[in-house]
Amino acid sequence: MSKRAKIIAANWKMNHGPATAARFLERFLPSLHVAGFDPGGAAISWTARLLIFPPDLSLQASIRAAHQPPMRMPVEFGVQNIYWEEAGAFTGESSAEIAREAGARFALIGHSERRHIFGESDTDTNYKVQAANRAGLIPVLCVGELLEERREGQLEEVIRRQIGACVKSLADGPSFMIAYEPVWAIGTGETATPEDAAEAHAIVRATLVDHATGDPATTPVLYGGSVKPNNATELMSAPGVDGVLVGGASLEPESLAEIAKGGAAAA
Ligand code: PGA
Repeated sequence: MSKRAKIIAANWKMNHGPATAARFLERFLPSLHVAGFDPGGAAISWTARLLIFPPDLSLQASIRAAHQPPMRMPVEFGVQNIYWEEAGAFTGESSAEIAREAGARFALIGHSERRHIFGESDTDTNYKVQAANRAGLIPVLCVGELLEERREGQLEEVIRRQIGACVKSLADGPSFMIAYEPVWAIGTGETATPEDAAEAHAIVRATLVDHATGDPATTPVLYGGSVKPNNATELMSAPGVDGVLVGGASLEPESLAEIAKGGAAAA
């Protein structure tokens, strides 16, 4: 049994505008109570660490809803993507600095939808890790194999390549997280087994050790891909799984609270 609090990260993707996000957070605290959490006034003893990644336009409304008295929810926030330049003529993009100024503490980098829908390369993800470090955001680097790659036995090669591309930049920053998300399990209802997750997480850690990057014992490695209330505890109990990155099942407060409860049970 590990004593470290599990990390429950919610990736809302392109869902929840500012008003919907605020309503979500108003319902989330009561849902946490129902799920068995006991926020006892200012000194709250949480057994799970909660991170939410809203769409950029909903970030500030979410932070306000969560942190304004009397809420003061112990939820941290991040963005789903950043551009690597600091400022300038890059229509439609937000820099790491803008995200930081808006209140983000974390940035997802290289999510599979960025890689496979928007054509983001390993070089792009490396620049983005550097930008996050520069602005004081904690990068959450997402890695994972396609179904064909898995079938062809390339799991290890893909993970090593995707981390390897960013490894020097990750080492330059104060801290980072890795999210292992097999592409075939994202939004499909197909979940990796706890054994699959443990195998991939071991590869992630071995890659960090080989590159002498971060502290492999303490760098959080999250699992993502069709995490639901009914499989979260089992996945978070697998060796080397420090938490989960949840898409679809994070969109309802009750479901996210149940997953957080699962994290507390697995801690
Ligand atoms: P999912 O998404 O939980 O809907 O599979 C996970 C993710 O893309 O981060």
